[in-house]
Amino acid sequence: MTGSAAGSGAPPASTASSTAPATTLTVIVADRRGGPETLHAEIRPLRAPREKRVRVRVLAAPVCLPDVQSRYGRTPFPPRMPFTPGYAVVGDVDAVGRGVTRVGPGDRVAALTGTGGYADAIELHERALIPVPATVEPTEAAVIVLNYLVAYQTLHRVARVAAGDSILVVGASGGIGTALLDLGRYAGLRMVGLASPRKHVVVEHFGAAPVDYHRPDLRDRLHWLEPNGFHAVLDGVGGTSIDLGLALLRRNGILVSYANPGSFRGLVALLAKLVVVNLLSKGKALKVYGTTATFANRRPLFDDWATLFDLLARGAIHPVIHDVFALSDAAEANAMLEAGVVSGNLVLRTPYGEKERRQREREHDASQVKAREGSVR
Ligand SMILES: NC(=O)c1ccc[n+]([C@@H]2O[C@H](COP(=O)([O-])OP(=O)(O)OC[C@H]3O[C@@H](n4cnc5c(N)ncnc54)[C@H](OP(=O)(O)O)[C@@H]3O)[C@@H](O)[C@H]2O)c1
Repeated sequence: MTGSAAGSGAPPASTASSTAPATTLTVIVADRRGGPETLHAEIRPLRAPREKRVRVRVLAAPVCLPDVQSRYGRTPFPPRMPFTPGYAVVGDVDAVGRGVTRVGPGDRVAALTGTGGYADAIELHERALIPVPATVEPTEAAVIVLNYLVAYQTLHRVARVAAGDSILVVGASGGIGTALLDLGRYAGLRMVGLASPRKHVVVEHFGAAPVDYHRPDLRDRLHWLEPNGFHAVLDGVGGTSIDLGLALLRRNGILVSYANPGSFRGLVALLAKLVVVNLLSKGKALKVYGTTATFANRRPLFDDWATLFDLLARGAIHPVIHDVFALSDAAEANAMLEAGVVSGNLVLRTPYGEKERRQREREHDASQVKAREGSVR
């Protein structure tokens, strides 16, 4: 699924009246393959949404590894240049096109866009919209849409873990890795996480045992930690990590790899491995997971987003936000991710999202003052 920066078409049926009408939108574009320096801002006219589509004013958008891999072309199906990265958005419906029935102006929504999320407004089909509780923080909501969805579905729909199971998380300090640890802690799993030493603190934070994947005795160390083997290995790195993970599984264990295979050739090699392992490794299963593979039946996606937003609203899960950048600093955010110094997630916030954050802070301060006055009386 891809979103398009709020585009051309018929006049809107209605628009939100509470905000000053904007006439332009800002979109971040990579004009060629390469590093973060290829990203720049473009100002475009803001147009009315087409039939069945809505315009969303973006509050927050995650910065994630697929944005980087797509920009370099390190993915089986790289986007054509120029392209706007941005795998997901959270925002408010700003205007609706003819025939839209599911949402109205002012509704808080999210979407898995694939590309196009680095913008302060985006046009999306109403079918793509995920309802978001107004109480949740938009930067945290932005992390739920992609990274927590991948983590939740690999754990519960593919690996089908149960409380007390042991899991090994490969890539535990990353955006999806920390989501796996957070959801694994909530599900009562026993967890080991592979991460660089300087990021062990985030792995421990979720109650998992951190292990440095650079150790020469890595396999022995993991075997020592789980002598009977792991019930499940969740792999976000691919390549030799898959062979290591398979060797560490117990009988009837499952390895789920959600890592990008890097190229079309890598995808073919992975699919070949899938066939061989599942035919020959008696009692061990290898599966691959991709959000796009689940689009044929969208019901589970929407059920899982609803579950995750409910967990977030109840404070049962706690996304790790390493840093928040302004949309105009998208290149800096990408450079930080590429530098390998991030634990958890990076998020972009638009000027509209910044305004919303300040409003929340004011409301919070006002409620604190009220509570204090109440307790003094
Ligand atoms: N299947 C899907 O639908 C889907 C959706 C989104 C993303 N993905 C893919 O999932 C993967 C992870 O994405 P992400 O956003 O979580 O990335 P991320 O936040 O950048 O995290 C990647 C992590 O991998 C770790 N790492 C690197 N080399 C490693 C190795 N040899 N062994 C163990 N860990 C290693 C890094 O850990 P340290 O820094 O601790 O070294 C880093 O924390 C990417 O390939 C991405 O394309 C798939």
